[in-house]
Amino acid sequence: MNVLVIGSGGREHAIVWALHRSPTVRQVFCAPGNAGIAGLAECSDLNVRDGRALLQFIEAKAVGLTVIGPEGPLVEGLADDLRAAGHPVFGPGRAAAQLEGSKTFAKEFMSRHGIPTAGFRSFHTPAEALGFVQSEKWPESYRVVKADGLAAGKGVLVCRSREEVQAAVERLMIERAFGPAGDRIVIEEAMVGEELSVMVLTDGETFLPLPTTQDHKRVFDKDEGPNTGGMGAYGPVPQVSKGLWARIEKEILVRFSDGLRREGLDYRGVIYIGIMLTPEGPKVLEFNVRFGDPETQVLLPLVSSDWAKLFLATAEGRLKDVSLRLKKGSAVTVVMASGGYPGPYEKGKFITGLDLASKEPNVLVFHSGTERSSSEPFKTAGGRVLAVTGFGETLPAARDRVYSAVKKIQFDGVHYRTDIAARGINAVPL
Ligand code: AMP
Ligand code: GLY
Repeated sequence: MNVLVIGSGGREHAIVWALHRSPTVRQVFCAPGNAGIAGLAECSDLNVRDGRALLQFIEAKAVGLTVIGPEGPLVEGLADDLRAAGHPVFGPGRAAAQLEGSKTFAKEFMSRHGIPTAGFRSFHTPAEALGFVQSEKWPESYRVVKADGLAAGKGVLVCRSREEVQAAVERLMIERAFGPAGDRIVIEEAMVGEELSVMVLTDGETFLPLPTTQDHKRVFDKDEGPNTGGMGAYGPVPQVSKGLWARIEKEILVRFSDGLRREGLDYRGVIYIGIMLTPEGPKVLEFNVRFGDPETQVLLPLVSSDWAKLFLATAEGRLKDVSLRLKKGSAVTVVMASGGYPGPYEKGKFITGLDLASKEPNVLVFHSGTERSSSEPFKTAGGRVLAVTGFGETLPAARDRVYSAVKKIQFDGVHYRTDIAARGINAVPL
């Protein structure tokens, strides 16, 4: 089988890696891909928004499965278009992708199905939203302001006071900092606790939970500095006791799957449930209708089953026929970023040590933002440049492996967190 992966980040490099090593896959194509992905797949600058060109490509290359990496094309309905033409696709259609594409839709879905989440109000106009914030009815805990639509992971503003909430509403709805994504907003209760990423493969009938992972969103050690797309991740998360997992299954996963069924939402892909472990129990922060980045770089190497079979069975609605085998051990991924990220940063810095790092045992180097022209060395081409994964029998062993590889890689201005997985290593089961 030939497969096509859509996307260009470290997550897609991991997906391409997993497909490339499958004995059932002949060739992997990636649109657009990146310089690292080009080592394993034939990258194409095909415009995936041009439906007809995409279908022609799929037919010309005899593609038997398309895996859609990012949320944008899913929310726009790309999976529906390909399915309508008879092609197997890993990724939900437009209707179910609203779980990520609209925060209001997601919150109302959770209310309808009794899924625990922060209390919220949703607003369509700045007058209504500001009226609520300025009124007696505003509870002091309602301090998180979210753009309803997609905002590249930047549309959530966690505030400390009524004045900040007001400014956040103005920023999203009046200044339109994220354009139409902020034409509707959600104002919700601020929750406290540790965050957990739960990713589940599903074809709507069968739900196969992948190992739990934990992202590190803040740019600096000890969770300091601004939020990023994710500076590193590890899994499985030892803090998740059997009892806690049973609660997550009963109160979140079962209700989620019942909700999909009752609403007739067709879902074939991965659902990523962002959870906050609050003192009252696990509560959903958000749904994403795709794999996380960098969680994917942790997860895919932790599974020993053939990923091509898992993706295809999901796409074809046969997930009950396949089993998920896991490797014994842990994985830790460290993101190496450009100086200045998540603020402005320079690109085009030469990267050294990639070969040395890749030769370390049980280490994988995924490219998030790199480029190279012909035989030149790789250069930086994004904020997040590389995602390096180490695998080990224990979490500390995986952590030591990954940092030993990371230290071999250099580029001007490079920065990375030195405490990825520390919380898991010092874990107290929750
Ligand atoms: P989201 O895109 O909804 O996951 O939000 C991004 C990040 O904002 C989350 O990973 C949390 O760190 C934070 N966040 C979102 N919602 C809340 C909330 N209700 N309370 C506290 N933090 C939140
Ligand atoms: N790691 C966070 C995300 O993929 O949204």
